[in-house]
Amino acid sequence: MASKILAVDDDPHVAKFTVLLLEGLGYDALGLSDPRQVMDAVRSFQPEVCIVDLNMPHVSGSELLDQVKAESPHVEVILLTGQDDTLLAVDFMKRGAADFLLKPIVAEQLDVAIVRALEHRRLLLENTAYGQRLEALAEERSRALEEALSNLGALHEATIETLAQALDMRDKGSGGHSRRVADMTVGIARKLGIRDGQLVQIEHGALLHDIGKLRIPDSILWKPSALTPGEWATMRRHPEYGFEFVSRIGFLRGAADIVLSHHERYDGLGYPRGLKGEEISLGARIFSMVDTVDAILYDRPYHRASAFPVAREEILRKSGTHFDPALVPPTLEHLESYLKR
Ligand SMILES: [Fe+2]
Ligand SMILES: [Fe+2]
Repeated sequence: MASKILAVDDDPHVAKFTVLLLEGLGYDALGLSDPRQVMDAVRSFQPEVCIVDLNMPHVSGSELLDQVKAESPHVEVILLTGQDDTLLAVDFMKRGAADFLLKPIVAEQLDVAIVRALEHRRLLLENTAYGQRLEALAEERSRALEEALSNLGALHEATIETLAQALDMRDKGSGGHSRRVADMTVGIARKLGIRDGQLVQIEHGALLHDIGKLRIPDSILWKPSALTPGEWATMRRHPEYGFEFVSRIGFLRGAADIVLSHHERYDGLGYPRGLKGEEISLGARIFSMVDTVDAILYDRPYHRASAFPVAREEILRKSGTHFDPALVPPTLEHLESYLKR
């Protein structure tokens, strides 16, 4: 199919002559001598190229260039003028004109300019289509990835929750302990400004803190009487056992720190590494207080459930030795309001 060319010149003879010339070159041409009809013609005739006289009454070729480009960026505009002004030409090219021809029109020059404009248009359209395809593809990919991640996230949550419940069941007499300490630890961490991924890792670490006890024999874990020094030594391995297990799992690597450090003490007398002060991660420093409080509040084989004031006394008494004194006040404040609910 012949390419559609619109020719605009306020001189009807020039417009007519240009159309004849274009038809002779094999194009489907439409001529206009009133520049005010150009935008309507662009919409109805849908030309691929417009050849526009620069100096016309009512609407100049320069104005038409802007109007056409604003409404149909893929329509190429070639400007025609009698004046030999290369400075103007540069400006028009910058504003999107495909070419600039001097009057009187010479058939071969016109044909070369149109062929070039059509080729430019084809490349532009191709490029746009390619860009849109890429965009659609990228959008589709990121949507699929997001969905996979959120599915994976939900799956992880469910797995960790179930694992934590299983751990609680084995650790007799403290049903719901893992969920409770996770909620309390996250609440305090959030109060201290921790957010997003870090908060999730703290939650997972708290939920799984005693996962290493899976490797502690029942005879020690459930022993009704005091443990012997040898049994204690075994018992105290559980943070390392847990770390070994959890740090091998990619999405739990951040949580592994609480698992390893939940029995460290602020004064450096804890285990397994004897870390001191801020060498212990913030999450682990918060968690160790919460774990102590929960053990006092809920029945353990060697404790009776006590009220919060007893737990508060214990935390205050161990502030600076077991616990970070800077974290004690916000922790107690949060727990007091949390436990009232
Ligand atoms: Fe523990
Ligand atoms: Fe615990």
